[in-house]
Amino acid sequence: MDARAIIAGLRQGRPPSAEALAWFADGLASGAVSDAQAGAFAMAVCLKGLGPAGRVALTRAMRDSGAVLDWDLPGPVLDKHSTGGVGDCVSLLLAPALAACGAFVPMISGRGLGHTGGTLDKLEAIPGLRCDVTAERLRKVTADVGCAIVAANAGIAPADKRLYAIRDVTGTVDSIDLITASILSKKLAAGLEGLVLDVKAGSGAFMKTVDEARTLAVALVETAQGAGCMTRALITDMSQPLAAAAGNALEVAEVLETLTGTSVNAALWDLTVALGGEALALGGLAADAEDGEHRITEALETGRAAEVFGEMVAALGGPVDFVERWPDRLPAAPVMRPLTPPRRGFVTAIDGEALGLAVVALGGGRQREGDRINPSVGLADIAGIGEHVSPDLPLAMVHAASEADADRVQAALVAAFTIGETPVDDPPLVWERIG
Ligand code: URA
Repeated sequence: MDARAIIAGLRQGRPPSAEALAWFADGLASGAVSDAQAGAFAMAVCLKGLGPAGRVALTRAMRDSGAVLDWDLPGPVLDKHSTGGVGDCVSLLLAPALAACGAFVPMISGRGLGHTGGTLDKLEAIPGLRCDVTAERLRKVTADVGCAIVAANAGIAPADKRLYAIRDVTGTVDSIDLITASILSKKLAAGLEGLVLDVKAGSGAFMKTVDEARTLAVALVETAQGAGCMTRALITDMSQPLAAAAGNALEVAEVLETLTGTSVNAALWDLTVALGGEALALGGLAADAEDGEHRITEALETGRAAEVFGEMVAALGGPVDFVERWPDRLPAAPVMRPLTPPRRGFVTAIDGEALGLAVVALGGGRQREGDRINPSVGLADIAGIGEHVSPDLPLAMVHAASEADADRVQAALVAAFTIGETPVDDPPLVWERIG
């Protein structure tokens, strides 16, 4: 095999064979393929595409470039992946809810990316908890507790790790083929039997329209199925933050309020139930998605999901009494101030990306790789679309490390909300189901 021949063939519109892609992925992992060759490959894929069979082959090849977990557990191994949004903390509810229903969930998750928050950063807002664990620890926590939300270790899909970094600096992130293979290679390396995808559409998502989200969802579902994993996708709304909070500890607080029933966020609850219902049906733990929804609802209502969440937190190094004592355990920002609307009216649109970027600017996300994040900052009580706002009913509460930080994001935050004279309907939570 020869990297030059693979790249030249692609450039001329001939997608490489599965064997050639497997060789290329191994070369990415081992270093036999150079940075220049990897960049040229990524650009050729962007321009010419791989086609459905090539997409499956690249996904399998990148999955197999590292360790692929296998399991021998008394229940199906299931997972969920979200394409990312603002205030999207569903994983923190869904993983324990699925585990409470008999599934095993080795949820290999990501950190914040651009304006979107990352599940690992949220979970690590809990003092003492660390998501960077060995494969052995992932196995043990998954088997003992039922779910483990952890970071990908170096052994998982190393070809993707290298290609992703090169795409990032060669203007080749934006390819459905490469995005699909990148997301799925990491997820499928966890040895899943079923995967449910939450493909987000709207101002706070990477895909701004339902049409764009559908294209990605179809590619993801067809590719994952082609690689042997039962998969379904929901296209869900991200034209406003999912939770009423955006920021790591603030979202964990909202998750705990919902899990323990002290103050249930309806959107978080409903999306957890919808995705969980699909996942349980895929894994054979429910007759169909509707039956699965009932089971997830019960796991949430009885407090069993909260219990599993507490066990997972303790197993990953967090406080053993977190579910009971979370208000005392989570870090809090020193400055808290209302974001007052410029006039009285109704919220008619929200620029989710602008809200996410403001959270990053407050220190709740990374401006560059390796930055330390401040888990306590962000936004809480964010007004949703259709809500009435006035000087007494603020757009949000800003939680900041200093008055100066809060001042710096004020104008961008106010501009992120469109205020109208008359109320508008809340958009639907789920737009479409694919697969
Ligand atoms: N997330 C990934 O893991 N890979 C991509 O290419 C895009 C989003």
